Amino acid sequence: MAFPTETVYGLGADGLNSDASKKIYAAKGRPSDNPLILHISSIKALEDLTEGDSPLGRKLAQAFWPGPLTLIFQKSNKVPLETTGGLDTVAIRMPSHPIAYELIRQSGAYIAAPSANASGRPSPTAADHVLEDMDGRIEMIIDGGRADIGLESTIVDVTGKVPVILRPGFITLEDIKEITGEAEYDKGLFKKPDNDDFKPKAPGMKYRHYAPKGQLTIYEGESDNVIRAINSAAAVKQAEGYRVGIIATKETAEAYHYGSVEVIGTREDEKTIAAGLFQILREFDTQQADYIFSESFYDNSLGQAIMNRLLKAAGYHIEKV
Ligand code: TXA
Ligand code: MG
Repeated sequence: MAFPTETVYGLGADGLNSDASKKIYAAKGRPSDNPLILHISSIKALEDLTEGDSPLGRKLAQAFWPGPLTLIFQKSNKVPLETTGGLDTVAIRMPSHPIAYELIRQSGAYIAAPSANASGRPSPTAADHVLEDMDGRIEMIIDGGRADIGLESTIVDVTGKVPVILRPGFITLEDIKEITGEAEYDKGLFKKPDNDDFKPKAPGMKYRHYAPKGQLTIYEGESDNVIRAINSAAAVKQAEGYRVGIIATKETAEAYHYGSVEVIGTREDEKTIAAGLFQILREFDTQQADYIFSESFYDNSLGQAIMNRLLKAAGYHIEKV
């Protein structure tokens, strides 16, 4: 069953039942070494699901749960290896969305839930997106309207001495540091996944993700240079007969003269850009865009999460202008 959360829609099943977890992998077409997040509605669940004590984990849970934060703990024996993709750690999150929260509470279960997209597609931020990917593969979708945040939760490993961010999200490095003093990014996070020196620690971060069917290129530089470069690249591809899409902002949309120009959000509020990202990637699939050109966004705080997803979608294809 798919349900809304404040980040993206999830595809849920009983996380302590290994057959249920297997069904999730099958419905998504997801590789079985990519672990699931267990969703809880009470902090007491940590006693059931985790082993040993994590003072860091407790502090961060108290500060940010319920909310868009996933914590990685040592797992207890109750958590099946099918759910954790064979790892001895477990990912846990308490969502704040009232529907998600009540679903977990009333089911009395710990709900394993990956994003409710087909493996490799952008995460769903609306019930329609889930239907696009999962029609005929799952029994039910609870429609809770658009997801507020639109990017998946921040994942933080709290099994060591310092919290390590394995996936950037709405809760930023600075937010975490405010609670714990120190915190760092996983060194594999901003490298191309084929980099052998630093493999990302979250198995899911190594896969090509969110990939639109068209080829996405990100342009980085002064705003005027970016607009000029995108216009000329778009003009060339359009003249060659290709379908072209442009990811613009409210501030720049008027400056583009080729292809289909879609507004992702406004630069005045980065949250709108985060919330619009997956929707716009899906939109260009629907339009069957062959080439997509995007502006780039600041890579501080929330921008880290936005650029992390955009770079993956582009297969790290970036033009500096
Ligand atoms: O916002 C979210 O987190 C959404 C909503 C539905 O809660 N869920 C979500 O799940 O994004 P999913 O399965 O699409 O992403 C889970 C990520 C994957 O990258 C996976 O590799 C990582 O969490 N992960 C899960 N368990 C892990 C573990 N024990 N150690 C490291 N990474 C883990
Ligand atoms: Mg996912």
